[in-house]
Amino acid sequence: MEKHSLNGTLIIFNAFNLILLGVLLRSGMQLLPTLLIMLLSTSLVQFLTFRLLNRQYKEIKDITEKVSMGDHSQRIPTLNVEEFNELGQSINKMLGKLDGTIGHLAIHREELRLIVGTIQDALWSINAEGKIEWANTAFAQLFDLYDEGRMQYYWEVIRNVSLLNYIKEFGVSSEHRIQEINFRGHTYLLSGSQNPDAQRTVLLMQNIDDIHRAEKMKKDFIVNLAHELRTPLTAIKGFSEAMEETADPQNMRYLKIIQNHTNRLINLINDLQTLIRLEQNYSINLKEIDLPTFFDNIKLILSPMLEDKDVELQIDIDPTHPRFCVDPFKFEQIFINLVENSLRYTENGRILIRGKATDSDLTIEISDNGSGIAPEHLPRIFERFYVADPSRSRSNSGTGLGLAIVKHIVALHNGTIDVSSTLGEGTTFKIVIPASKAS
Ligand SMILES: Nc1ncnc2c1ncn2[C@@H]1O[C@H](COP(=O)(O)OP(=O)(O)OP(=O)(O)O)[C@@H](O)[C@H]1O
Ligand SMILES: [Mg+2]
Repeated sequence: MEKHSLNGTLIIFNAFNLILLGVLLRSGMQLLPTLLIMLLSTSLVQFLTFRLLNRQYKEIKDITEKVSMGDHSQRIPTLNVEEFNELGQSINKMLGKLDGTIGHLAIHREELRLIVGTIQDALWSINAEGKIEWANTAFAQLFDLYDEGRMQYYWEVIRNVSLLNYIKEFGVSSEHRIQEINFRGHTYLLSGSQNPDAQRTVLLMQNIDDIHRAEKMKKDFIVNLAHELRTPLTAIKGFSEAMEETADPQNMRYLKIIQNHTNRLINLINDLQTLIRLEQNYSINLKEIDLPTFFDNIKLILSPMLEDKDVELQIDIDPTHPRFCVDPFKFEQIFINLVENSLRYTENGRILIRGKATDSDLTIEISDNGSGIAPEHLPRIFERFYVADPSRSRSNSGTGLGLAIVKHIVALHNGTIDVSSTLGEGTTFKIVIPASKAS
């Protein structure tokens, strides 16, 4: 198509006008008719130019409108006014790039849809109003009241009171939260996190039946193993003690080694059984105790161990609020384990138990001036089987379960336990238990 530049056309037209003016004046025509002819020719050219520009403008406008309606295949054809043609080609280039970007986005969206669709766990998001914005196939299978086409409130779809309560709690908390729940005879891990910018709560419900089954098998295995080992170990211990009477000094040394190791194994079995029993039995039997009497009793239980060492156990309980509700048997285990540790890692010195109850909580600190714990071990000492310094502890026969048991009992009381320690100076454990009523 032949193209014309707008500027070029105007220059040619002005030059033509000047030439026409010169020719007309030279031919002796009077000024008025000359001007009239000039005016006529200018108007004609103006009309033709305006019509051409208008047509080209309309062509661009029509196409951009079609694109804005979603027809991305539209392109502006070659136009015969140079300037409009350049504008049209720029728009075409922009549309081409936009097409590429939209194509990429569509591919990503499809990939995401496939990934999320194949997740076996129910995944959904709720907006600030409580309406389900989006949910995957697993969610739709789990909750058959869900209708993808309607924006439903989550309580219209999830008709389970305890699950609804958890979701409500997730909605008010800004932290990422995880909760184990039972739903229609299965165990799920419900996790939720909020996106405050998008005003959304995203929830995931993961079936953990298999993990539970494996965990149960592991526990059953440990309980059975512990049960089977107890009888032979008790026999070894009993017979080695009986053999002491007739043993010569050399064999006596060997017998002591056998007894030490047997005791270690028996302690390990006892600890394992305690831990598993605590994990299986989530309930606690709360009773009001008298704190000074309770700790006098603890001192009595531990007195045989204290006699072997040059360590004093001091107890300092604030008498203003002596009564508090705990599970006495489980609570006793906390202090037996902690004082046992302090004794194990304190050669000579003192162990101090300080307690103070108020209407709202009970705070107890157990401190010793023993060997202390290096800072790198502190975050891990509550883990099962974690022994801070194996070389040192091996001779002391620790199995690393004592603090795991303590932590579990504290958690059963909804409490917290913290530790602070300085190597060579001593260790302090601080326990805080919120007040609760006796059952
Ligand atoms: N009072 C303490 N002083 C120094 N180190 C301690 C003290 N309490 C705990 N630890 C360190 O923390 C580790 C974990 O303690 P935990 O009571 O769990 O295990 P353990 O005493 O080694 O074995 P168990 O209690 O099962 O017989 C210990 O091995 C020890 O290194
Ligand atoms: Mg211990």
